Amino acid sequence: MSRKIKPIGVFDSGFGGLDILREVVKVLPQYDYLYLGDSARAPYGHRSPAIVYDFTRQAVDFLFKYGCELIIIACNTASSEALRRIQQEYLPTHYPNRRVLGVLIPAVEQSVTIVKSKTKNKKYKKVGVLATEGAVRSGAFTREIKKLDSQIKVFEQAAPLLVPLVEAGEHESPAARIILKNYLTPLLKRGVDVLILGCTHYGILAKQIKKLVGSNVSTIAEAPVVARQLKDYLARHPEIECRLSRRGQIKFYSTDLTAKFQLLGSQFFGRPIKVERAMLE
Ligand code: DGL
Repeated sequence: MSRKIKPIGVFDSGFGGLDILREVVKVLPQYDYLYLGDSARAPYGHRSPAIVYDFTRQAVDFLFKYGCELIIIACNTASSEALRRIQQEYLPTHYPNRRVLGVLIPAVEQSVTIVKSKTKNKKYKKVGVLATEGAVRSGAFTREIKKLDSQIKVFEQAAPLLVPLVEAGEHESPAARIILKNYLTPLLKRGVDVLILGCTHYGILAKQIKKLVGSNVSTIAEAPVVARQLKDYLARHPEIECRLSRRGQIKFYSTDLTAKFQLLGSQFFGRPIKVERAMLE
């Protein structure tokens, strides 16, 4: 990709963010995109916030160096544990004119809209969140939901076994059903009205999750929500939109070139991808 190209950068700890990129490209096919997965160091879900911040900052540097004007952190763990610091401390001093957005706020906003419209006559409004250990530990989903409506009760459930399950291709197995049931039961006992699937890998489990939670619980898969919100964001920020290049090119980078990234990445993206090696510093 020529350095003159000003793509939208999409970053994830691995290939999961390709699910988000797929939906974004569907809604906004005219732009150029640069995807970066840190598969050499994935998963991030169990790591400390300090390390997730360092890795995310390196990814941001890489994508800006390659000309990105705007970056979407497609990883929930990085969006929960690193994004705020990147936006508040790193960008103002290093890249004051560029922007980094996450996937958490779009999902949170959608959950609040839905729970409010569903529970007009109920005393309590309840949102459940299924996410990685790191994302849950950060409390970011609860904090952002409460900012929009402090009356909403939020219940977060860490689901550390789901990422390895999906990566092993076991997402439709009987084991997946048992593990999912185990994670979803506490949330169902709390009577959640809306459930955020707060991890890149859970979109692929959406069908099974919907079956287990039943039709009274609205589930929010992030990819289409993020894509819609990005379109709105660009319409509201012409000063950024006008800087983006429009050749419809997509480049894929990963910090490790593995058969798994190639195979599952193509599955998540919905078509075959050609991946190049990225070195982060
Ligand atoms: N991409 C991560 C997320 O959405 C899941 C995989 C990981 O733990 O790195 O949180």
